[in-house]
Amino acid sequence: MTVSKKELGNDPNANNGSVNAMPTTNTKGKNRTQKVFIETYGCQMNLADSETMGGILAEDGYSSAETMEDADIILINTCAVREKAEERVFGRLTHLQPLKQKNPNLVLGVTGCMAEHLRETIAERAPNVDLIVGPDAYRRLPDLVGDKTGGQNMDALVDVKLDKAETYEGIPVKRKPGVTSHISVQRGCDKFCTFCIVPFTRGRERGVSPEEIIKQAHQSVALGFKEVMLLGQTVNSYKHTAEDGTFTDFSDLLLQLCEIDGIERIRFTSPYPTDFNAKLISTMASQKKICKYLHLPAQSGSNRMLGEMRRQYTRDEFDTLVKDIRTAMPDIAMSTDIIVGYPGETEEDFQMTVELLKTTRFDFGFLFKYSERSQTFAARNVEDDIPESVKKDRLKRIIEVQEEICGEIFPGRIGSTVEVLVDRDAKRNKNQWVGKTDDFKGCVFDKKDNGVGPGSIVKVLVTGATSHTLIGEQVT
Ligand code: 5AD
Repeated sequence: MTVSKKELGNDPNANNGSVNAMPTTNTKGKNRTQKVFIETYGCQMNLADSETMGGILAEDGYSSAETMEDADIILINTCAVREKAEERVFGRLTHLQPLKQKNPNLVLGVTGCMAEHLRETIAERAPNVDLIVGPDAYRRLPDLVGDKTGGQNMDALVDVKLDKAETYEGIPVKRKPGVTSHISVQRGCDKFCTFCIVPFTRGRERGVSPEEIIKQAHQSVALGFKEVMLLGQTVNSYKHTAEDGTFTDFSDLLLQLCEIDGIERIRFTSPYPTDFNAKLISTMASQKKICKYLHLPAQSGSNRMLGEMRRQYTRDEFDTLVKDIRTAMPDIAMSTDIIVGYPGETEEDFQMTVELLKTTRFDFGFLFKYSERSQTFAARNVEDDIPESVKKDRLKRIIEVQEEICGEIFPGRIGSTVEVLVDRDAKRNKNQWVGKTDDFKGCVFDKKDNGVGPGSIVKVLVTGATSHTLIGEQVT
């Protein structure tokens, strides 16, 4: 399979690009000729899910298409978190219509959160779609695709059954080569924030067993990955109880991963504020391998809005958490998610969010306009009453606030020396490497003829900066 990544909307750890996945053995010995292309939209969990789908299909004998034109099966793995993400996919489906006309046997599938959320609408608005497959139905993909390639069925096949127990254990994940391996440690979400579609598209929270996670981490090392990124909707609420009663929480899991030789860095996203505890903060502080960067979604700076959104903390509690984390790890970088224009948000509420950003001084911000999602508590119970023009204006203003802060923080690093995990060639200049600092800042520096390449960790003296990137010179 080719796993290509189209758009990682709100992704603090976005990692774009289209790369061929590695060969995976066809363990079921099926003699298939069809080639699959998977295109991914949305969060990193979706990227990881595409790699899981790739593994499931490869195991069943499907091979990889280099391009969409070359594919017998195209799967669009989708996001439902905001309306814009869904509209983009509808646009994409229309755009793919000529391919369907050229090859009437082409199977076109929509997978993931939007498939779960808009199963009926997809069938109506995109009649060229053959498969609609939700996030818990990927094990059945080979059969679903096989049924369609039989060529008889006219209506889309729909499989959107959620499964409380599905964690995709035992799948030979087909990872996109790189330096960072994405490992889903938790699926679903139990928080039910009023604005959020995720519990409806991904079902209830469940933790993957530590054995499976450790196995995947070892496999990642064997494939040359240097960094693991643990993924979960509220990743730090991770918990797992084994059949023998052994209980593992998120700190325990991190410590087990720290023991693995060959893993240089460990990241995770996204934690939920109230799932932090003293044990987790001290685990992070004491382990060099755990990167000193946290994406900590606040959503709003107004207590009233936090209550309306059913976030489980107050502004004071959020501020105290940030303070505790910074006391334990003074140099830690932080980012956040903010929603402006949630129903009932007044200018005063909005100003409290502005003030939160100004006082906390996050290193990055992921800032969104509220988008009503059907099924959620907000969609069912409150009116989406903030005019689009006001939402737009607030978004513009809050972006300006955060940009100014980024414009101070990044240049503030000039003169310091940072450790960079080299990722790839810089996009704009092939004579430069780009990588990430421990605290998740992009850093570019000139290549030297010294054997450094993707996966190397090097020291870089920061000599310049934009508001989003550090520029430097390698010093060791
Ligand atoms: N409207 C706008 N933004 C949303 N998010 C989640 N649901 C919505 C919505 N309905 C944002 C939140 C979340 C991030 C992943 O996306 O900020 O943390």
